[in-house]
Amino acid sequence: MKKLRDVVLASIFQRRAVKVFEPVEISEEILQQILNAACHAPSSFNMQPYRFYWVANAKRKSAVAKLCLGQTPAETASALVVAVADIGSLAATSRSQLEWMRSRSEFSEAKIRDYERTAKLGRILFMPGPFGIFGVVKWAVFRLLNLWKTVGMPPVFRQDLFKWATKSTSLACENLMIAAEALGLDTCPMEGFDGRRLSRFLELSARYHEIVMVIAIGKRSHAYVEPPQWRRPLNATVTIL
Ligand SMILES: Cc1cc2nc3c(=O)[nH]c(=O)nc-3n(C[C@H](O)[C@H](O)[C@H](O)COP(=O)(O)O)c2cc1C
Repeated sequence: MKKLRDVVLASIFQRRAVKVFEPVEISEEILQQILNAACHAPSSFNMQPYRFYWVANAKRKSAVAKLCLGQTPAETASALVVAVADIGSLAATSRSQLEWMRSRSEFSEAKIRDYERTAKLGRILFMPGPFGIFGVVKWAVFRLLNLWKTVGMPPVFRQDLFKWATKSTSLACENLMIAAEALGLDTCPMEGFDGRRLSRFLELSARYHEIVMVIAIGKRSHAYVEPPQWRRPLNATVTIL
């Protein structure tokens, strides 16, 4: 147990945004471990509303690096991972979870029906509808309800849905970076990219996909001189009530 704690904390504290990498081969096994770790992050309603594009092919990687504004971490990385918030996958995800539940003996019929109902309700609540019309209705209903009841506001418009999906995507990204660190690799998260061109390159849909960040992965270059790491003191960041 102590060993697990030490490895996790060491990975968190040693991770840095590395700006220059040297070429290394990332094996299929390591790739799988890193991506699996990313997908083990918690996500809202367990909806895992993201997609990762792992770009390691030299020609495609070079094209993506250019769309990351030619930044050195992107140009020198062994692989680039484009993390995309995906709000078009919700129905398929709940169907897939339902199938999984049906295939397992631990879930009673009542539990499965319960999940089915919740998933249906979730789909309705999370649906922006054409031109956001349903969003306006949703907003009005929840705002009214909130006048006398404690209620949370579901994502109302498409942008709220992207904001919702971005939270879970970012947690998966952090898992990915910590796992890479634990496996002896380095990373650099980047939001310096041309989103419009990169989306077009990956053939994403503007309706359902938004790129959250690109993560450069590789082994830090021996020549790379790391600047000291600065953080605000805890009292500037934390309020204890
Ligand atoms: C959302 C996000 C976007 C970032 N974008 C870039 C970027 O485009 N280029 C870059 O070199 N670093 C980028 N960084 C890395 C930060 O500059 C770095 O994490 C920060 O300076 C702290 O350094 P450290 O991670 O080594 O502690 C980004 C980090 C985050 C979390």
